[in-house]
Amino acid sequence: MGDITNSEPVAGRVSRLDLDYRYTSCRLAEPGEAPTLEEAREIIDRLYESGVPFFTKGLIQDMWDQIKQDPALGDKILTKDITGAVVECEVEKGKVRQWRVDDTEMEYVCKELVLSYQCRACLRREIKWNDYPFEHWEPCAIKPMHRTHEWDSKTESIIPRRGPLDLGVVTKTFQDKSQEWKESPACEKLKTILSSSAKNHEIDKVIAFAFGTMSGQYFEDDGSLYMRSGWRSASQHALLVTIIEWMKERDHKEKVLCYSQEPAYTEVDKKILDEVGIEVIEDPRGWLEVDEHSIVLSVASNVPSKEIIADISRPAVIIWCRVEFYDGLEQGLTDPDSSRVRAMMEGYELHEFGPDEEMFSDIVLYIRKSVAAPTPSSDGRFP
Ligand SMILES: C[S@@+](CC[C@H](N)C(=O)[O-])C[C@H]1O[C@@H](n2cnc3c(N)ncnc32)[C@H](O)[C@@H]1O
Repeated sequence: MGDITNSEPVAGRVSRLDLDYRYTSCRLAEPGEAPTLEEAREIIDRLYESGVPFFTKGLIQDMWDQIKQDPALGDKILTKDITGAVVECEVEKGKVRQWRVDDTEMEYVCKELVLSYQCRACLRREIKWNDYPFEHWEPCAIKPMHRTHEWDSKTESIIPRRGPLDLGVVTKTFQDKSQEWKESPACEKLKTILSSSAKNHEIDKVIAFAFGTMSGQYFEDDGSLYMRSGWRSASQHALLVTIIEWMKERDHKEKVLCYSQEPAYTEVDKKILDEVGIEVIEDPRGWLEVDEHSIVLSVASNVPSKEIIADISRPAVIIWCRVEFYDGLEQGLTDPDSSRVRAMMEGYELHEFGPDEEMFSDIVLYIRKSVAAPTPSSDGRFP
């Protein structure tokens, strides 16, 4: 294989900004007999209902540590499935694979390792997709996957993705959307509710997830630039800035810790966010930062933010899409409201602040009812 780090533009090729991934091949370290389809479903449901955390900071940290060691092609990364069994996942870094898009053969190369998160409904759906009877079954809530890049085997190089929008354009969008948000009744209402209902909560950091990129170049079918996702992202970051300002005022501080985890950020996003006091952090650091003294925000996430947070912490304040009854078992949602998420939310007071749904989806504010932080039991379960 040639130099896969070459990222010089290749003339005449259009590439994309969106992220693509490929799962690694995983197998139980000590394979036993695979369960039947019914048994597999029953195991997932039983463990989920028992409250055993599927996501733990310990496993996230452990897998991140392994990834940071930069394993090479053929090395193994170890994870654990939800039953606690050790699972070995094979690193495919540098492997080139073929796939077909609309009758065109394409090639991609496996590159950076990142974590993938499977919610309870995803694990159940995965059973259906696997050929039955299973040859092997390892229901992993957290496993490694590779980011993939389009590959040109003639030049043995990566076909570069489309770059971000121009800094000036994105700065202007962010300024306009910030102005629009600041002038909205929802902004005022959010600050008023926080000041009255979260005034006694000990809060020391703010962590946002999945706020999207403001600088992505996406196109409509007619070739015109698709602006809505950038506008939504800009509006959501403007809300984040309001939270920072509110914290500064409340605690008479010059600086507030504010992190944002979003794999789609470009250098343009990072520059703009840095200037307003938002530190971009890589996955999975965000989950590890979340604790009982945090404000957590997540909007329309592609990963099961709600289930992850429900397993690892009880933040003081949460802003995310209204928790309802969509547990994802039938609907195929990426961030479902599972029974555990619904149970967690019983410990929170819901506050409406009425942001524009076009820009924010149906997000609401949740403030923990108890000012004192609840502590998990020794096996990580929250009361
Ligand atoms: C449907 S988009 C929503 C973007 C934006 N919040 C909005 O409402 O338009 C889902 C986002 O989740 C992000 N995402 C995927 N994996 C993530 C991870 N591990 N941590 C944080 N965000 C992630 C994606 O990059 C994507 O921008």
